[in-house]
Amino acid sequence: MTYTVTLIPGDGIGPELADATTNVLEATGLKFEWRRVDAGESQIAIHGTPLPEAVLESIRETKVALKGPITTPVGEGFRSVNVTLRQALDLYANLRPARSMKGVVTRYENVDLIIVRENTEDLYAGIEHRVGKDAAESIKIITRAASERIARFAFEYAIANGRHKVTAVHKANIMKLSDGLFLESCRTVAAQYEGKGIEFEDRIVDNMCMQLVQKPELYDVMVLPNLYGDIVSDLCAGLVGGLGVAPGANIGESAAVFEPVHGSAPKYAGLDVANPTALILSGVMMLRHLGETAAADRVETAVRDIIAEGRTVPKDLGGTAGTRAFGQAVADRIAAS
Ligand SMILES: NC(=O)c1ccc[n+]([C@@H]2O[C@H](COP(=O)([O-])OP(=O)(O)OC[C@H]3O[C@@H](n4cnc5c(N)ncnc54)[C@H](O)[C@@H]3O)[C@@H](O)[C@H]2O)c1
Repeated sequence: MTYTVTLIPGDGIGPELADATTNVLEATGLKFEWRRVDAGESQIAIHGTPLPEAVLESIRETKVALKGPITTPVGEGFRSVNVTLRQALDLYANLRPARSMKGVVTRYENVDLIIVRENTEDLYAGIEHRVGKDAAESIKIITRAASERIARFAFEYAIANGRHKVTAVHKANIMKLSDGLFLESCRTVAAQYEGKGIEFEDRIVDNMCMQLVQKPELYDVMVLPNLYGDIVSDLCAGLVGGLGVAPGANIGESAAVFEPVHGSAPKYAGLDVANPTALILSGVMMLRHLGETAAADRVETAVRDIIAEGRTVPKDLGGTAGTRAFGQAVADRIAAS
């Protein structure tokens, strides 16, 4: 069987990482038809938008996409392609695992965290305006429907993956109505999962950050509104070696887009220095989503073994291997496995 997958290489380091990753995934022997569509800075001059309709159409058709990072101008210009894509396709769950890797020097050895971030609302709803010349306001949207949906996703994920605890993260002591509703919704869902072997607790987000850098082993699956999820997932990436190794998935009922946590790192673009691990591991998440568990295990094992052996290690992890060399080493290992 051939899997038809939308491929969005993206901006900055994205195209190099996409080349390395497709090469690795093909080394499993699975057949892919990559439907390449472009989004991002390069498309503005051609289509007048960084997100041409053809990109959304392709994902609606293939239902699965592998995506590199896309640059978002700070403080001006087009709305984030990433946020628009997630909202347009209702990719409501942003799943970001953070797991220690042997050979990657960090403060902790046994971090194994799953971030489940609500992906469609909160301050990312994009409702903001200036109030006169010297003030501005952004509106934080939290609904019971979206909060219960993401909490259910977290519990279902925990059950399906042999996890033991779900922690809801919020700031309901201050935002009593919006974060209060998020927490109330998580509690409602937790009550429905009582007796299924999953413990439930909640933490205030500032305390959660402190606890994560001191005792990450206390946590398991975390469920968070959009903005806290974005920030806390970068923190968790930092616990396991940084953005170069942090994969992610955006999952909805009718489509899923797999992309790393990191951005387009423009200063490294075209230099063959960026670490492709985060996109390769996003590809592993894609294989699991497609039901290709054995192939996913082979790719993940090859990445972990090569880093642990210490001979071909990407530069951000203290080694000397470029994007292509590391990707090829992983592909060769898979082909030999
Ligand atoms: N999902 C996405 O497409 C996404 C996510 C985050 C940021 N962005 C965009 O990316 C652009 C740059 O953002 P930024 O600089 O804040 O974040 P960034 O993730 O691009 O870079 C942050 C730091 O991590 C390093 N880094 C990131 N990925 C790496 C990799 N694969 N290998 C080695 N080092 C890596 C960078 O060099 C930099 O030091 C912005 O326009 C931002 O909006 C896009």
